[in-house]
Amino acid sequence: MAATRRLSHSVAVITINHPPVNALSHSLRRSIAKEFGDASKDSSIEAIVLCGANGNFCAGADIKEFGSSTLDSVSLNNINDTIERCKKPVVAAIEGVALGGGLELALSCHYRVANVQARVGLPEVLIGILPAAGGTQRLPRLIGIPAALDMIVRGRHVPATEALQLGVVDEVVKANTVDAAIQLARKVLGQSLETRRLSTSPVQSIPNMDNFLNTAMTKAKRQFRGAQAPLACIEAVKASIVLPFQKGLEKERELFTSLWSTGQPQAQQYAFFSEREVGKWTTPSGGRWDKVAPKAIRTAAVIGLGTMGRGIVTSLSKANIPVIALEQDTKQLDIGRQAVNALLDREVLKLKQQGKASSPGDGLGSVTFTLDFGDLHNVDLIIEAVYENLQLKKEIFHKLSAIAKPDAFLCTNTSGLNIDEIASVTNRPEQVIGTHFFSPANIMRLLEVVRGHHTSLTTIATAMNLGKSLGKVAVLVGNCPLFVGNRMLGPYLEQAGYLLEEGCYPEEVDQALEEFGFAMGPFRMMDLAGLDVGWRSRTEQGLTGPNAPPGFSARQRNGKRYSPLADMLCELGRFGQKSGKGWYQYEKAGGRNAKPDPWVRDFLEKYRRTHQTEQHPANPQEIQDRCLYALINEGFRILEDGIASGPEDIDVIYNNGYGFPKHRGGIMYYAATVGLTKVFNTLDKYSKANADVPSMKPTFLLKKLAAVGGPPIKEWRTQIGNSNSRL
Ligand code: 3HC
Ligand code: NAI
Repeated sequence: MAATRRLSHSVAVITINHPPVNALSHSLRRSIAKEFGDASKDSSIEAIVLCGANGNFCAGADIKEFGSSTLDSVSLNNINDTIERCKKPVVAAIEGVALGGGLELALSCHYRVANVQARVGLPEVLIGILPAAGGTQRLPRLIGIPAALDMIVRGRHVPATEALQLGVVDEVVKANTVDAAIQLARKVLGQSLETRRLSTSPVQSIPNMDNFLNTAMTKAKRQFRGAQAPLACIEAVKASIVLPFQKGLEKERELFTSLWSTGQPQAQQYAFFSEREVGKWTTPSGGRWDKVAPKAIRTAAVIGLGTMGRGIVTSLSKANIPVIALEQDTKQLDIGRQAVNALLDREVLKLKQQGKASSPGDGLGSVTFTLDFGDLHNVDLIIEAVYENLQLKKEIFHKLSAIAKPDAFLCTNTSGLNIDEIASVTNRPEQVIGTHFFSPANIMRLLEVVRGHHTSLTTIATAMNLGKSLGKVAVLVGNCPLFVGNRMLGPYLEQAGYLLEEGCYPEEVDQALEEFGFAMGPFRMMDLAGLDVGWRSRTEQGLTGPNAPPGFSARQRNGKRYSPLADMLCELGRFGQKSGKGWYQYEKAGGRNAKPDPWVRDFLEKYRRTHQTEQHPANPQEIQDRCLYALINEGFRILEDGIASGPEDIDVIYNNGYGFPKHRGGIMYYAATVGLTKVFNTLDKYSKANADVPSMKPTFLLKKLAAVGGPPIKEWRTQIGNSNSRL
């Protein structure tokens, strides 16, 4: 881990080297400072180029060192200051990424040359902090307040071509970035560097600046629901206008320090590292991710082009994998083709804007449409996304056994059916795996990879690797009804239903959970997903509908409490957004603006009177506790059952698939923050008073961890035992 220096035509090329992404650790910063100091003093050197090894310029501060040496990160400010003041021209040669402290380093250089594939950005907000080495003060001076605010508050990775348009970089090249930087450095020799020093440049004013910033603040408060970092970013950018540069830097540091004390940066950085950790799966039999080579997926097929299939096709094509898309009849094929083409058109547009495509199809895998299963005989991997019907899926897998080439992988996108049963009808159960995408599949980052009893390590490695190639975060989970995410929804939605029976209204429950930070409360979520999906499944299970045993009372099933409210809405054709009515009312079928519905109020009041339910309208805190503790308890049950290998896996699933607020780390991380003793006691009290709600009975694992004082989340794994470590 060091910066090294070589000479090229009297230009010193300083290469930052700390694999894999050249994070600015303490010792790397020391090394850069030394090499830079030496180069600036050396009279044989006329200019300096700063570049990165390993195909990257620099991904910013070393996040692993945060907390242990937060004050040390200040020294990046000193390096930046030295670079900017240098009398010799300094040019940053940006390949790969220049992010966070990496871009701040580049902003202190006098010029920036980027490779066309490079990305730049200040994504600190995504790990709960703000740029703390001058980024909030230099970027507005370079590209103006609106563009800088957008980049900093959203933490966007900006592609090189856009960075050129915005003025973040001075030149974009297709190849030989360092050579281009050397040339530029030589070209500007002798020119004044005064206007290139951002700390001394003025900030371009815009009309109604105060108004603009106030609106940005109001919008951010609404959009980021309790996350403090975006608000601190706006404050810091505001400082660049109202304060001189040095004072602005002080404000930036002050905001950084106060953010740290909220606990949100620690939570978000836990979430960041958890996302990387879950990719390193192991199995009880000793299989390790880095010991099993994935097979290359050169071609793929998708069966069923409904809501999920069309998104999966798009996702594969975006990853430049040619796809064959199959439907059951001409009508469905035409509908599917139109939908896929519309999604792909948007991708082409994006690629063109990024300068990565010049003609349709560039950078995308081809998509061909068919009705003939025979066309799938030669693809490497097939993903089935037909209706959620076990019999139908088994028929398809049986057919695929005969058609697909022997080494082809067979994946199912089921949301919760038994993978082993689907695999049992094939001639290759070891090559069958669940790939559970989330809707819309071309956008949502989560992929639950579900291993069956016979799934081989190579199959797991291939599915996990495919997830990464698609830009997803893939989490390996075990096979049980509904897997991890959807299984946890059960007790959560159960509590939400009981809260209505006891006197709350859907909008109150949603509001309490949205104030907690969820992207959407449970009732708005159900309306969006379609109430009929769960209803159909409950009807199939005989919990409701014509197959339900006549002995069922309205509010009990097999001795357990049951809320029939959702079933009653479905019986009235209220399926949610798709039918224009559900827990809320919408402007039309397919409408998106949920409005509280007086009809639902009347319906609930009548229900409560009819069933004489005990009335106890919960306050927001109680609503949050009951719903969140239901999730947490099921999370512990999943850990006990070995379905997820650690709390990080559950947190990554909830953060990326269910709109859990990342600034709280994850649902299990939240449990650790609240304190496991408190969680245990609350659940225990509730469950003793509600013996007919077994999902709230504290799990053994929670009890065990609470009994030893609720250790930090990193230590849970040893208490869980090794049996399910990383599955
Ligand atoms: N610090 C420490 N480790 C880092 C890191 C960082 N800034 N960025 C990435 N890593 C590590 C990852 O943890 C991972 O480690 P592992 O192999 O041991 O699991 C490894 O580098 C590779 O990372 P990815 O698996 O994420 O690789 P990708 O190629 O998919 O993505 C990336 C690379 C785009 C750089 C992505 O890792 C990323 O977004 N990193 C974070 C960038 C960031 O937030 N920078 C700001 C840091 S804070 C800062 O600079 C403060 C400053 O203002 C003072
Ligand atoms: P959908 O009803 O929108 O689409 C299913 C498609 O499969 C239809 O276009 C249908 O014509 C096609 N199909 C049916 N039988 C076929 C056959 N024999 N051959 C070829 N095509 C056939 O269903 P959706 O929502 O896309 O769900 C698909 C799968 O994905 C299900 O298993 C579902 O549980 C799962 N899933 C759904 C999610 C969602 O939000 N909709 C989320 C995650 C998983």
